[in-house]
This record gives sequence, structure tokens and C-alpha cells, in this order.
Amino acid sequence: MELLEEKIRKEGQVKGEGILKVDSFLNHQLDVALFEEMGKAFAKRFAGEGVNKILTIESSGIAIATSTARYFDYCPVVFGKKYVSLNLDQEIYSSDVYSYTKQQAYKIMVSKKYLDKDDRILIIDDFLANGKAVEALIDMVNQAGATLVGVGIAIEKGFQDGGALLREQGIALESLAIVDAMSEEEGVIFRAQSE
Ligand code: G4P
Ligand code: NA
Ligand code: NA
Repeated sequence: MELLEEKIRKEGQVKGEGILKVDSFLNHQLDVALFEEMGKAFAKRFAGEGVNKILTIESSGIAIATSTARYFDYCPVVFGKKYVSLNLDQEIYSSDVYSYTKQQAYKIMVSKKYLDKDDRILIIDDFLANGKAVEALIDMVNQAGATLVGVGIAIEKGFQDGGALLREQGIALESLAIVDAMSEEEGVIFRAQSE
């Protein structure tokens, strides 16, 4: 997606440890107009698939997911919670995520009330690196007996394993921007895509 790539070129900062910092529009301050365009792009790529629910993970996935849900007919957003809350229902699906960035595991949880076997689910997230967060979301879709329509990612880091692992499993993965290489000196190199 040209608009997103342009924004990354202009405002993204490559950090030494293979991290692309995009706080000015995606992870801290949010460019709402850009999010709307991303939402439209996801809706176009997953049109006609009967998506009736979007599943994401807090926190950065939520805003992109809501911008996307607007472009589907009645389509709530459900997000995996990372922090145990006393208010969370007793009946939950949970899955473990190992974070490479943080070098530790954590649990995500979704109440059983909000995932149904009849749901046709689109998973949305901001970044795809090693894919552990997305795998945990897929695990919960499977626990619920729901149907996974596909996975939509804003920025895929093509030099990490997540994208290949998902595509190998036959999962419909659509990333709006794929970074194939990046360095502080030369910036970001994107994979050519048809759209
Ligand atoms: P994985 O899910 O793909 O295995 O990745 P990992 O655990 O390593 O990622 C941990 C967090 O860092 C995730 O956000 C992920 O979206 C984010 N992340 C991974 N690589 C990059 C990067 O290059 N740039 C940026 N900006 N973020 C990256 P999170 O901890 O779930 O936080 P939140 O932002 O959703 O609250
Ligand atoms: Na995220
Ligand atoms: Na993030």
C-alpha cells in the first residue's frame, strides 16, 4: 500500500536491533486518516468472504481493527487481553505468546462469550515479526471452532519468520507493507506487491 510505505519512508526510524519505530503514526500518536485507508484496503482484500468479526490483540492492534470493521457489515472487534482483570469472565479462551522482543512469555485471553463457532474471523494486527501473537489468536479461533478467513497486517517484517510460517500453513495473509530489509544507513526496502 503506497500511502503506508510513503509514511514509513518519511517517519519510520530503523533501530539497530531490527526494530522499526513508527510511534508518530502507528504505535503512539495515531494517524486516523491513514488508518481509514488501511481499513479500506483490508476490506477490499477480504471482500466477499463473509467476515463477521475482527479479532486483534491489545493495544496497537485495536485502532487498526476498528478502522477496518467499519468497512464490513455488522462486524464487532474483539481483542485479546494481555492483563488479567477481575472483571474478566470465568469462561475464557487463553493462549500463550512468547515475545522475542521482550524475551518472555505472556498469556492472552478472550471471553468465550465473544467467539462463536459460527464466526468468520479476520485477524488484524499492526506488526508481524515472528508471528507468535498471531499464532495465539489463531489458536483461540480454533478453540472456539470458528472459521479463520485470514490475517491482515499493517507492517510485516519480511526478514523474520512469521509471514513464511503463516503462508506455509495456507493461511490467507495480507500485509499492507512488507519490509524485506532495513538499516539505519539505507532505510527501508519494501517487497514489491501487486496493489
Ligand atoms: P511476534 O508477535 O511477531 O512474535 O513479535 P514479538 O513478540 O517479538 O513482538 C512484540 C511486540 O513488538 C508486539 O507488540 C509487536 O507488534 C511489536 N513489534 C515487533 N517488531 C516490531 C517493530 O519492528 N517495530 C514496532 N514498532 N513494533 C514491533 P506488543 O508488545 O503486542 O505491543 P502493542 O504495541 O500492541 O501494545
Ligand atoms: Na501488536
Ligand atoms: Na506493537
